[in-house]
Amino acid sequence: MLHGKKLGVIGVGKLGEALIAGLLKQGDLKVGDITGSVHQESSIDRVRERLGIETTLDNKQLAKDRDIIIIAVKPQNMDKVLREIADELRPNQLLISVAASVTTNFVEERMTKEIPVVRAMPNTPSVMNAGMTGLCLGKHSTAEHKGTAEAIFNCVGKTVFVDESLMDGVTALSASGPAYLYVVIESLAEAGVKLGISREVSTLLAAQTMYGAARMVLESKAHPALLKDMVTTPAGCTIDGLMELEEGKLRVTLIKAVVKAAERARELVNNQNSSK
Ligand SMILES: NC(=O)c1ccc[n+]([C@@H]2O[C@H](COP(=O)([O-])OP(=O)(O)OC[C@H]3O[C@@H](n4cnc5c(N)ncnc54)[C@H](OP(=O)(O)O)[C@@H]3O)[C@@H](O)[C@H]2O)c1
Repeated sequence: MLHGKKLGVIGVGKLGEALIAGLLKQGDLKVGDITGSVHQESSIDRVRERLGIETTLDNKQLAKDRDIIIIAVKPQNMDKVLREIADELRPNQLLISVAASVTTNFVEERMTKEIPVVRAMPNTPSVMNAGMTGLCLGKHSTAEHKGTAEAIFNCVGKTVFVDESLMDGVTALSASGPAYLYVVIESLAEAGVKLGISREVSTLLAAQTMYGAARMVLESKAHPALLKDMVTTPAGCTIDGLMELEEGKLRVTLIKAVVKAAERARELVNNQNSSK
């Protein structure tokens, strides 16, 4: 799908770098197929050293001759960058935005032609090739564009396409999600410390347990409740722990956390997209 394509990444920061590193590791694209751009001259050496790709400050030049362009600048810089490159883009190119809370409509409104747009919401574990990316299509994107975007983000983890109206939910669940789960790992590790286990060993026990539980869900495809039942021996110790979790309202707290974050994501979308 990506073989032979020329990719440009506008904004090779944390996420841009993770995506490029994942793509190079996967091997579909070579160093010579990718060009990046940054804002500060001093960042050019950083990108060249870390990724070995050609790097520029010239977004217009980059946008001109690439098959796929990923924009990975901060949401507040999107308006400026989109207006800068609009005249250079052609409908046979694909524009992918990873900027949080920036809609496909926001991007399309700043174009001077009918450019295919894909909006993506990855998360930080993309750096470890264990990312989760929610994607949605703009109004000029076809099944081929969908396949291309999927191939890119599959290089750094798993992908799912959703209706754009659900992107706030994706943001709240999988993009913010790592933060909630770090709190869970940290708390489990604290429990280990309370029971006399060193912090280092406790953190390993907690994190590897979460990793293993996640793999069980993904690979067995069993309902999490069934997997939970498999751990819970009648009159054993797990049921006592689960009772404490129910009393502490863990489930409803997590549900409310994601719903609240989605509300905030919607507010940010509205603020971002009302500034034309
Ligand atoms: N980090 C995540 O996990 C994550 C997850 C989902 C979505 N996102 C989205 O990804 C985007 C980037 O986030 P990030 O965490 O990677 O931010 P970041 O590390 O600050 O990277 C932003 C990059 O954009 C560059 N830049 C700024 N203005 C530019 C311009 N006019 N032309 C070219 N490059 C420019 C910066 O260049 P300099 O280095 O020279 O300053 C920097 O390298 C954001 O929109 C964010 O919402 C991030």
